[in-house]
Amino acid sequence: MPDSIYVSDIYKSFGEVQALRGVSLRVPKGKVVGLLGPNGAGKTTLVRILATLMYPDKGEAKVEGIDVVARPDDVRRLIGLTGQYAAVDENLTGRENLIMIGRLYHMSIDAARSKAQELLNRFQLADAADRTLKTYSGGMRRLLDIAASIINSPTVLFLDEPTTGLDPKSRLELWTIIRELVAGGTTLLLTTQYLEEADRLADTIVVIDHGRVVAEGTSEDLKRRTGKTTLDEVFLTLTGHSIEETPTV
Ligand SMILES: Nc1ncnc2c1ncn2[C@@H]1O[C@H](COP(=O)(O)OP(=O)(O)OP(=O)(O)O)[C@@H](O)[C@H]1O
Ligand SMILES: [Mg+2]
Repeated sequence: MPDSIYVSDIYKSFGEVQALRGVSLRVPKGKVVGLLGPNGAGKTTLVRILATLMYPDKGEAKVEGIDVVARPDDVRRLIGLTGQYAAVDENLTGRENLIMIGRLYHMSIDAARSKAQELLNRFQLADAADRTLKTYSGGMRRLLDIAASIINSPTVLFLDEPTTGLDPKSRLELWTIIRELVAGGTTLLLTTQYLEEADRLADTIVVIDHGRVVAEGTSEDLKRRTGKTTLDEVFLTLTGHSIEETPTV
């Protein structure tokens, strides 16, 4: 069985800045990989390449065996993406945004409507469903953005710092939703600044720093290898940076 996500020796520069310098990783189908790294490590750049939003300079990347450079349209059909910055239309209501995105994925109007309602309930946005996004709080926008990224039941989901700005209740709800998606066979690549989140959700963790993979394995592997007892200390040892713990939930 091909890997669900396959990345081989990817390079990407922005002028002088070498954002990715030979990153390789593989994620088997139905698994969760947590991509950790300090600010500017290259996490979002890698996610954007995998989601076909930008091309690598060099190297190969495939999603479900499909090359992201050669067949971006085919990749897009299979994936969901929640970016670090919300990508929804301010002037539409929450419900209209979800239905529009469902329609972009070729869902029937009835299917898009009913899936939108299900997600609005699930994310506790039903009361705000018919207000324009302009009136949403930051956390509410975030939730709507995540709902939009899973409306097409993606085979592979990319979540770039999905829980940043969410309150503890919403964060826990999102973790539950993520676990359900994964139980249903979705492969997930998750970037996060919260170690507890990676520890709880990810099967394996990949730590990147300055555009290179500096360690990968399960959270237990990484602790054993570095001789540390918490992922926090592991991260500090590997990258020289400390990282926030998840705010108390
Ligand atoms: N479009 C761009 N133009 C110029 N430089 C960029 C661009 N996108 C990213 N970079 C640079 O590439 C490097 C990696 O950025 P990237 O956004 O991938 O980091 P990140 O790991 O997601 O960081 P963060 O944790 O802050 O989100 C940084 O030095 C950044 O300034
Ligand atoms: Mg980022």
